[in-house]
Amino acid sequence: MVCVYTIPEKFSWVANIIIRFIYIRFHSVRQHVNPLSQFFQLPLSLPSKNVLFRKSQYPIHLDIGSAKGEFLIELAKKCPDWNFVGLEIREPLVSLCEKKRKKLELNNLKFLFCNVNVSLDEWLLDLDYGQLKRVSIQFPDPWFKRKHFKRRVLKTNLLHSIAKAMSKDGEIFIQSDILKLFESMTHTIDESGFFNGKDLGDLRFIDKNPYNVKTDREIFSLKKNLPIYRAMYIRNSLLVVDQVNL
Ligand SMILES: C[S@@+](CC[C@H](N)C(=O)[O-])C[C@H]1O[C@@H](n2cnc3c(N)ncnc32)[C@H](O)[C@@H]1O
Repeated sequence: MVCVYTIPEKFSWVANIIIRFIYIRFHSVRQHVNPLSQFFQLPLSLPSKNVLFRKSQYPIHLDIGSAKGEFLIELAKKCPDWNFVGLEIREPLVSLCEKKRKKLELNNLKFLFCNVNVSLDEWLLDLDYGQLKRVSIQFPDPWFKRKHFKRRVLKTNLLHSIAKAMSKDGEIFIQSDILKLFESMTHTIDESGFFNGKDLGDLRFIDKNPYNVKTDREIFSLKKNLPIYRAMYIRNSLLVVDQVNL
């Protein structure tokens, strides 16, 4: 179903809250959502790490596009001295993951609803410098067509936000079963200059998930014998200079 609405500027906050309520109340989990729609462009203030975690000083692993959350649930069980955050744009999935997490009493894991391209930057500013140690972006996009390029999650701005919060030696792990999408991600990361990988040549490409836990999509792709393209990047010491409008 396609829903088109135009709301006068001064009512947009109220309207967005009403739309959000209707969306949460009546929508089942949709296959894809358009991150560029007005609804998903509204910035959300995500809870600070001190609110999310009892041991808020632990290193953080962010999984972008956490979907059903099984990957992080398994990792959180295996690594009690890390904090894990799953970020997902489909809110019903986040509620589902939070239910599973609470049942398992995993206090080092939280799932948050947001469009990472809109709301992650502010949340990262609240972290201690260097606390963000790992980011995984796994099979992130259903947007294969060129005309949908703008909907893809890994954009230069997002990468800058991650690079700003991450100290030297932090990791970004990416994987996809679509070569064009994978190449688009490696291109964005290589271009940024903040992560080493380019100079490692083929060594940056790895043949299995380095965290020894597979994601849902990874299991699906392996069962279907699809090729999986993976790469690990390490944060270098290049400083991120914020662009200031003079
Ligand atoms: C194909 S699924 C892969 C899920 C999981 N990482 C896996 O490997 O099984 C991609 C997920 O990313 C989420 N996603 C896409 N764009 C996003 C965005 N801008 N912010 C947050 N989540 C996003 C989608 O809703 C979807 O659940």
